[in-house]
Amino acid sequence: MVDMKVNLSGIELDNPIIPASGTFNFGEEFNEFYDINILGSFSFKGTTREPRFGNPTPRIAECTQGMINSVGLQNPGIDKVISEELPKLRKFFHKPLVANISGFSIEEYVHCCEKIDKEDQVGIIEVNISCPNVHNGGMAFGVDPKNAYDVTKAVKEVTSKPVYIKLSPNVTDIVSIAKACEDGGADGISMINTLLGMKIDLKTRKPVIANKMGGFSGPAILPVAVRMVYQVYDAVKLPIMGMGGVSTAEDVIEMMLAGATAVQVGAQNLVDPFACKKIIEDLPRVMDKYGINSLSEIIGGAH
Ligand code: FUM
Repeated sequence: MVDMKVNLSGIELDNPIIPASGTFNFGEEFNEFYDINILGSFSFKGTTREPRFGNPTPRIAECTQGMINSVGLQNPGIDKVISEELPKLRKFFHKPLVANISGFSIEEYVHCCEKIDKEDQVGIIEVNISCPNVHNGGMAFGVDPKNAYDVTKAVKEVTSKPVYIKLSPNVTDIVSIAKACEDGGADGISMINTLLGMKIDLKTRKPVIANKMGGFSGPAILPVAVRMVYQVYDAVKLPIMGMGGVSTAEDVIEMMLAGATAVQVGAQNLVDPFACKKIIEDLPRVMDKYGINSLSEIIGGAH
């Protein structure tokens, strides 16, 4: 019998599979397809201080081996997440959660993180400094080491739970950003968010996405994500939640060999709502095939 357990900042997960923020909402819809307690955990939709309606439509474009989204951080706002979403969620999901917090200023990150830190079911706070779809916030913090350091430090001062900083791949040197987060006191790194992309409609000769550009995700970005996780694993001593294009159990093994302790699955949930369930069920077969008894033993094994 293979061992799929991993330990993420002191939290024991039954397996490393975590649906990525923005692809699983607050879990309710997916729980109608299967009991989501089989997951390691899940990361809920990026939450901001104020409720957000999101960007104008169209905000999704299908591409070869992936998709572009420009949702624009649509969410009900931190107060409603705490008063409505979490009480609902608690009834059907019984494991520690990953709380994804997004923002437009350091004050906003601090405000939201301080509030969510007090919620019993939150196991890890994932601070999203990498959303490519909003102006004057999101990714602006994740492309500059000084800003990344400042957000991390400020959030760490008001939280007691492990803080993972979610990084953008839209940088020339992701290692310097990860190091800045480590210096700021981060407990872990979440990576990678989407790659800034664009699709043009040949008939209208205009961008498909109303906001023109958006975040590209899906199987096509897996090699980029694996490369970046590998680089960051070499450079910092923090655990990594690896993500980007993961859609099979084999991809999970690859991401862990690069250095991920846990693996988030994003776009594939939108292709197949059973994606995470299928990956979890298939992992023992793939582990067996490659002679792996325990997943935690392969973390960083490619180095
Ligand atoms: O547009 C969005 O809501 C995406 C968020 C993200 O990629 O962090």
